[in-house]
Amino acid sequence: RIAYVNGRYVPHADAAVHIEDRGYQFADGVYEVCEVRDGALIDEERHLARLWRSLRELAIRAPMGEAALKLVLRETIRRNRVRDGIVYLQVTRGVARRDHYFPAPDTAPALVVTARSIDRAKVNAAAEAGVKVITTPENRWPRVDIKTIGLLPNVLVKQQAKEAGAREAWYVDADGRVTEGGSTNAWIVTGEGVIVTRPAESGILRGVTRATVLEAAQKLQMRVEERAFTVEEAKAAKEAFNTAATAIVTPVVAIDGSPVGDGRPGPVALELRRRFHEFAA
Ligand code: PDD
Repeated sequence: RIAYVNGRYVPHADAAVHIEDRGYQFADGVYEVCEVRDGALIDEERHLARLWRSLRELAIRAPMGEAALKLVLRETIRRNRVRDGIVYLQVTRGVARRDHYFPAPDTAPALVVTARSIDRAKVNAAAEAGVKVITTPENRWPRVDIKTIGLLPNVLVKQQAKEAGAREAWYVDADGRVTEGGSTNAWIVTGEGVIVTRPAESGILRGVTRATVLEAAQKLQMRVEERAFTVEEAKAAKEAFNTAATAIVTPVVAIDGSPVGDGRPGPVALELRRRFHEFAA
């Protein structure tokens, strides 16, 4: 495998960044994860728009222009011969002597890109079996709209989920409403067949997959409501599912041990999963 590190393509095993990289010391950086399907990046424009926004919000300089970055993404995919897989990109504020204040303005931001293949059949089989989620109190900072590499709360709840035999943890706010998963956006389908997901700009990451699924559902004449839902409503829902670039649409079959619907992946989630790529760019 080959990784892109600050201007060079290097063997993955030798790919390294400086110990004084601000990403390493302060989690002072942002990232994106994109799906690669049949060699193409899925929803690239939306991912790059969000990357640019994350950088702007943290006043981190872009490491290069958009056209150049697209070339690096393609070249990393090509060099790793990825047909189906994942591209990861990370930008940090760069390398400087450890000091909380921003470093000198001429400090170059650091860019790392990796790509790896996934076994699509295996991923599909696992996703179509459905996953279990647990719920856990929201404990993240309020700026979860920025896709930062500061993921310690997410790491802890994902591990908590794994130890409970679940795949994902749904964060729940002080009002008992689900915000999102540790690495996914959360959705339900009500008894009336309405697809519900929490509004963007309300304590969630504005998921790229979420945006595409919303458009897909509307185009498929499904009923959609952007509003918060409680854990109780989710447990009583007909279906639930998660979305992310790494998960596309993954049915949720249990919440805190209670089965959702009949405890099997629901038809709405499965249809959205099956048809997602007709609507992705
Ligand atoms: N996670 N919410 C959180 C907290 C996330 O970390 C992610 C993505 C999403 C879904 O966003 P999108 O549809 O744009 O992938 C929602 C990535 C995949 C990760 O951290 O691996």
